[in-house]
Amino acid sequence: MGGELVIVEEEVKMSAIGAGIDIELPKGNVVIDIGGGTTDIAIISANDIVISRSVKVAGNVFDEEIKKYVRSEYNVAVGERTAENVKKELGSLSKYKGERSVSIYGQDIVSGLPKEVIISSEEVRNVFVNAFSRITDLLIEVMENTPPELAGDIIGNGLTICGGGALVRGIKDYFTGIFNIPCRISPNPLTGVVEGAQIYQKVVNTRLNNDYYGKNGNALRRKNNPTLV
Ligand SMILES: Nc1ncnc2c1ncn2[C@@H]1O[C@H](COP(=O)(O)OP(=O)(O)O)[C@@H](O)[C@H]1O
Ligand SMILES: [Mg+2]
Repeated sequence: MGGELVIVEEEVKMSAIGAGIDIELPKGNVVIDIGGGTTDIAIISANDIVISRSVKVAGNVFDEEIKKYVRSEYNVAVGERTAENVKKELGSLSKYKGERSVSIYGQDIVSGLPKEVIISSEEVRNVFVNAFSRITDLLIEVMENTPPELAGDIIGNGLTICGGGALVRGIKDYFTGIFNIPCRISPNPLTGVVEGAQIYQKVVNTRLNNDYYGKNGNALRRKNNPTLV
């Protein structure tokens, strides 16, 4: 494709940059990226991933859990897109203003006929809170394994939440309530990785142009730590 210099980096690192974190500072930052297939949690400091963990509980699982709930509670099978729409329209982790109910349509699993179900914000919240417990457990595990020198940074900088899952209502209060540290939501949860990578590319290019590495060949050999100065 004509790419001359290819650098492979961790998605969560790019997420962090996209969320406005200066990952090169020798300060610990906890980043949680709740995507479609996985939730990735990492502590980043001085351009390094100090610790990272991943769990297959993210957007797709929330959709799946909503489907399961509607099936077991109302005997109605709903499609994936319906479940995802409900998630986006009503999904929350704590109470919010404007809670409501929406109508969704699916197939009655007994009669096989189309059926309407009215589902409320509170019902969807219960599904979310259950599914989120596994994410919370993982975050606890990461925190427990944080090197003690970074503990102060974590308390000071708090948690940065990225990925589409960051858009779930009340997520900030939810994590603050559990961990008692400040939480910040990425300003652009769905596009932060790409934006972070763009910023990163600019930094790398500038350094190459400034002859930090000399020729490209040299830079390629050092691709594992391209921002090393
Ligand atoms: N407003 C929203 N509330 C809850 N989940 C959302 C919202 N908008 C998007 N999502 C979910 O975010 C996920 C995609 O997030 P993204 O960070 O792009 O994932 P990935 O990096 O894995 O592609 C999908 O499961 C999507 O349904
Ligand atoms: Mg992602």
